Amino acid sequence: MTVHAQIVPDLTTPKLRLEALSHQFLSRGAPAVQAISNISLDIRPGKFVSIIGQSGCGKSTLFNILAGLLAPSSGSVLLDGEDITGRAGLVSYMLQKDLLLPWRTVLDNVIYGLEIQGMDRREARDVAEPLMERYGLGKFKQHYPSSLSGGMRQRAALLRTLLCNNDVILLDEPFAALDAQTRFKMQEWLLTLWKDFDRTVLFVTHDVDEAVFLSDEICVLSPRPGRIADRFEVPLARPRDRSVVTSPEFVSIKQRCLDLLFATQDTSTAEGSQA
Ligand SMILES: Nc1ncnc2c1ncn2[C@@H]1O[C@H](COP(=O)(O)OP(=O)(O)OP(=O)(O)O)[C@@H](O)[C@H]1O
Ligand SMILES: [Mg+2]
Repeated sequence: MTVHAQIVPDLTTPKLRLEALSHQFLSRGAPAVQAISNISLDIRPGKFVSIIGQSGCGKSTLFNILAGLLAPSSGSVLLDGEDITGRAGLVSYMLQKDLLLPWRTVLDNVIYGLEIQGMDRREARDVAEPLMERYGLGKFKQHYPSSLSGGMRQRAALLRTLLCNNDVILLDEPFAALDAQTRFKMQEWLLTLWKDFDRTVLFVTHDVDEAVFLSDEICVLSPRPGRIADRFEVPLARPRDRSVVTSPEFVSIKQRCLDLLFATQDTSTAEGSQA
C-alpha cells in the first residue's frame, strides 16, 4: 500500500518577513532623506494587513522595497523563508498611481500581468473574461480606460494585480481618489476577491475606517523615518458588512488608531525637515 505524505500548510513560517528594513535616499546636491528605519514585521499567510501612517512616512518606499523595485539601504525581505530582497515580480503590486495603459482595452489591461508572466494573449483572455463577468467588469471589456469611472478603473487595476500568480499582493491607497459611497462598495468588493483568491494582502491607506473595516491586523508607522509605532489585531468577526462601522468594537479600534497617529504626529510638515 502506498502511503502518501499529507501536505499540511505551514502556518508557522510567515508568508512575508521584513527584517530590519531601512532606506535612505541619497541624491547629489541634496541632503540625504532617511525614509524608513529598522522595520521588522512578520505577515502570516492569508492575512489582510493594513499599514497606516502620515504622508511622507515611507509607506510607498516600503512597498517599492517589498516589490523588489528598490534595494533597501539595509535589511532583507523573505518570502516563504527565501530571501527575495531586490528581486522584482515575486509579489504583485498595485502602485499608488493608477497605471492602466490608455491604448489597451480594459480586457487587455486586465491580462497585462499574465502576458508579462509569459502567458499567450488568447489564453490570458480566456482566463480573464469569466472573471471580469463575475466581478462586475463584463460590460467594460472592450472599453478603453478613459471611458471608465474611477471605481471601474480601480476594479480593472485590482483584477490585473490579483490575476498575477503571486501569493502576496501590495495595494498602495487603491481607493484614495474615490467618493465615500463608491469607496465602500470597493472595500466590500475587495474583501470578496481576497476571500475568493486566497491571497495575503498588504494595504496602505490614510483612511482609518477603511483600515479597520478591511484588516486582520493594523500596523501604524511613525512619521519619517517610518518605524513601527504599533501593531495589533482587529478582532471583528467576518464576513463584515456596513453595519459593523458603528459597533462599539469598531469604534474602539478606530480610536486606538487615531490616538497612535496623533501621538506620533510629526510637529513639522510631513515633507518637512530632512533626516
Ligand atoms: N526617489 C526619492 N528621492 C528622494 N527622496 C524620496 C524619493 N522617494 C521618496 N522620497 C522621500 O522619502 C519620504 C517617504 O516617501 P514615501 O513616498 O515613501 O511616503 P508615503 O508614506 O508613501 O507618503 P504618502 O502617504 O504621501 O503617499 C518622503 O520624504 C519623500 O519625499
Ligand atoms: Mg505613498
